[in-house]
Amino acid sequence: MLVATEHTGRRINMSESKKRIVSGMRPTGKLHIGHYMGVLRNWLSFQDEYDCYFFIADWHALTTKYDQTKDLKQNILDVALDWIASGIDPERSTIYLQSLVPETAELHILLSMITPQNWVERDPTLKDMVKILRGNLDESEKDQDISGIVSYGLLGYPVLMSADIMTFNASVVPVGQDQLAHLEFTRDVVRRFNHIYKTEYFNEPMPKLTQTPLLKGIDGQKMGKSFNNDIKISDSEEETAKKIMRAITDRSRIKRTDPGHPDECEVVCPYFEIFADEETVKTQRKNCEEAIWGCADCKKQLAVIMNDYFRDVRTKRKELEQNLDYVHSVIRGGSEKARETSIKILKDIKEIMQLY
Ligand code: TRP
Ligand code: SF4
Repeated sequence: MLVATEHTGRRINMSESKKRIVSGMRPTGKLHIGHYMGVLRNWLSFQDEYDCYFFIADWHALTTKYDQTKDLKQNILDVALDWIASGIDPERSTIYLQSLVPETAELHILLSMITPQNWVERDPTLKDMVKILRGNLDESEKDQDISGIVSYGLLGYPVLMSADIMTFNASVVPVGQDQLAHLEFTRDVVRRFNHIYKTEYFNEPMPKLTQTPLLKGIDGQKMGKSFNNDIKISDSEEETAKKIMRAITDRSRIKRTDPGHPDECEVVCPYFEIFADEETVKTQRKNCEEAIWGCADCKKQLAVIMNDYFRDVRTKRKELEQNLDYVHSVIRGGSEKARETSIKILKDIKEIMQLY
C-alpha cells in the first residue's frame, strides 16, 4: 500500500511504519465459534492499526500429527475459508501458509544452533503434548519411554514458533494464555541472539492477550472439536439450533413450571450474555426465573439470536466455497508477499551473523 510521500519525493510504504503482528493457528479443520469470539474477532480489530501477518501453521500440526496428513490439505483450506469469511481481509492483512515461507525453516535452523538444549527440554507445554501423543498410542505402548515418541521436531516446537515470529521481526503477538510460555521463550531467544551477535536487530515481541473469555462447549466443558461439543462457524442454522437444544441448563430445573436459576445455567445463559443485547438478556433472565419460558423456549430464542449473529459470515463462507480458486490464490499470494518480507530479514540476519 503506497500512500504517503516523503518530502524527498520518495514514496514510502505506510505498512513499514506500523508495528508488525504475527499470529498463527494450527490447521485443525473447520473452526468453531469459540475460535471466532476468542481469536478471530481480536485479529479483526488489529487489521488497521498493525501490519498483520496471519498464518496457518501446517508444520506445527506435523509436530504431533506427522502420521495423520490425509486431511491436512482440506483442513488448511477450511481454516482459510473461515478466516476470510470472518473478515480477515487479504487486502489489509497478509494471510499465508507456514510451509510456503521456507525462510521460516532456514531461520529455525539458525536459531536451533543458539538455543540451549535445556531451554527446549523445560518447555512446560511439552508434558501436555506428550499426553496428546500418548492418546494416539495403543494400550500396550502406553508405558514406553517418552523420549521414543517425542520427535526432534516436537522438542523444537518453541524454536519453530520463535522462527515464525522472528522471520518477520514482529513486535506484537496475539496469543492465548496457553501460549505465553512460548512467547517468553521467544523473547529469551531474541535477547540471546542480540547479545551473541552484539546487535539490537530483533524486537522483543510483546504478547497481546485475548480479552474475551473462551466460550464453553454445549456440555459445559472446554469447547473443542474432539469433545464433540462445539458449534462450528460453518454449521447451518438447523445444526446450530439442534446443538443449542442439546446444551446443558440449570440442572435443578426439572419441570417446565419450576423457576429457573440463570446463574446456574452454565451454557445458555452465558451465551445470551455474549450474543444478545442487554434488554434481551434482562427479559431472558426474568422469563427463566418466573418460569414464563421453559428451557426449550429459551434455547429457541438463543438459536435465533446466534443465527442472526453469524448469518453474514456464513453467507460469505458459502460464497467462498463456490470460489475455491480465489481462496487458493489468497493463500499463495499472501505467502509470496510474506516471503518478500522474510527474505529481506533473512538477508539482514546472515549479514549480522557474518555468514557466507
Ligand atoms: N503455537 C500456537 C498454537 O498452538 C500457534 C503458533 C505457532 C503461533 N507459531 C506461532 C502463534 C507464532 C503465534 C505466533 O496455538
Ligand atoms: Fe437456562 Fe434458559 Fe432454561 Fe433458564 S430457561 S435454565 S436460562 S435454558
